[in-house]
Amino acid sequence: MSQPAATTGAAAVSEARQWERLMAMAAIGAIPGAIRGGGVNRACLTRLDRDARRVLIGWAGEIGATVTVDSAGNLWLRREGADPGAAPVLTGSHMDTQPNGGRFDGIYGVIAGLEALTALHLAGITTRRPIEVVAWTNEEGGRFAPGCMGSMAWSGCKPLAAFAEVTDPDGIRFADALAEHLAAEVDISPRPLGHVPHAYVEAHIEQGPILENGGKDIGVVSGIQGSRWFTVTLTGETAHAGTTPLAARRDAVQDMVRAIAALNALMHDPDDVLRFTVGRIVVEPNTSNSVADKASFTIDFRHPDKAVLLARGDAIEDVVRAAVRDAGVVVTETFHALPVEFHPMVVGAVEEAAGALGLSHMRLPSGAFHDAQFVVPVCPTGMIFVPCRKGISHNPAEYSEPGQLAAGTRVLTEVLLRLANE
Ligand code: GLV
Ligand code: MN
Ligand code: MN
Repeated sequence: MSQPAATTGAAAVSEARQWERLMAMAAIGAIPGAIRGGGVNRACLTRLDRDARRVLIGWAGEIGATVTVDSAGNLWLRREGADPGAAPVLTGSHMDTQPNGGRFDGIYGVIAGLEALTALHLAGITTRRPIEVVAWTNEEGGRFAPGCMGSMAWSGCKPLAAFAEVTDPDGIRFADALAEHLAAEVDISPRPLGHVPHAYVEAHIEQGPILENGGKDIGVVSGIQGSRWFTVTLTGETAHAGTTPLAARRDAVQDMVRAIAALNALMHDPDDVLRFTVGRIVVEPNTSNSVADKASFTIDFRHPDKAVLLARGDAIEDVVRAAVRDAGVVVTETFHALPVEFHPMVVGAVEEAAGALGLSHMRLPSGAFHDAQFVVPVCPTGMIFVPCRKGISHNPAEYSEPGQLAAGTRVLTEVLLRLANE
């Protein structure tokens, strides 16, 4: 296929409208206070999540897009094509945030998708294929672990029922939160879970420093590294902190310290490619003058090489068991996402669109996981990255300039146009 020149569709993308919409979304769940100004806490399947979705639905209505929701709570906006029976081209991302998140992670891809549809609408362009924008449920995994539940359920990677018993920090079951959410959206037409789009392309901030350091406008994402999540629960015995000799204790916190030290040794990587994070620790009874009888901690482990991901991930349980002195050990794997390569058709379309728009670009892999990882087995998939300041993300200071975000959306519009006219 020959390279399209930049179209009137991309020219109709409005930097101002997109920025205003992003800032309107950032107000829904804004974290108050000067230090965290700019931060957003909009957990999935909460009232705030629903409020944001209603605002999105209002904007979709302005361009006549139809709105549906599936049984995983994934929200779909659809702009019809000249051939409504043709497989749609899909774009989108997620609207939930980390508890201490920023204004762009996820929501940018949803608003960019809507902006692309709005630009096509205003430019009077009809594509052959329909174009759909999806807001996937629970990408972050901040409230219910793991992330990407909506896209995993949609793609068939995991049945929705597999997540039912996951609880949030308040003990609320995922199944109950989803039921409450779907009841609140009962006025939105339901759609079946899963279909086969022609292609999927997701726009996202990079969440790392490579584009900014390289002075590039656009990241042409080549694939996503693998991720595995685990929860380690250590059980000891609670006792009086003032009277119980150290030798007589079964102290879950001391065993957690031993376990994490041993895991740091397992995960040592002189090349600094491997990513290993202990980000959540729960201690019981969590009081200063009692020995802890329970300590549980999460592991987020990532690597681009499947062999390393499998070998070191599989070693975690034995390493923990060998490291602890007294505690009982339970290790549960909660997330298993192998590395993926994106499809040459979509990667090429992103690269060519960036070139046609005169934007500097480079190929790079994603260190963050994304819903796109789970769309790969379903249809040709790719992603567009835009730079973010100092690579900061999962942090209230997360920032991309309006112009950088608009450039990414122009590329997205070109790519959607091209794929939707195939
Ligand atoms: C996504 O939020 C990730 O943690 O990579
Ligand atoms: Mn994200
Ligand atoms: Mn994120």
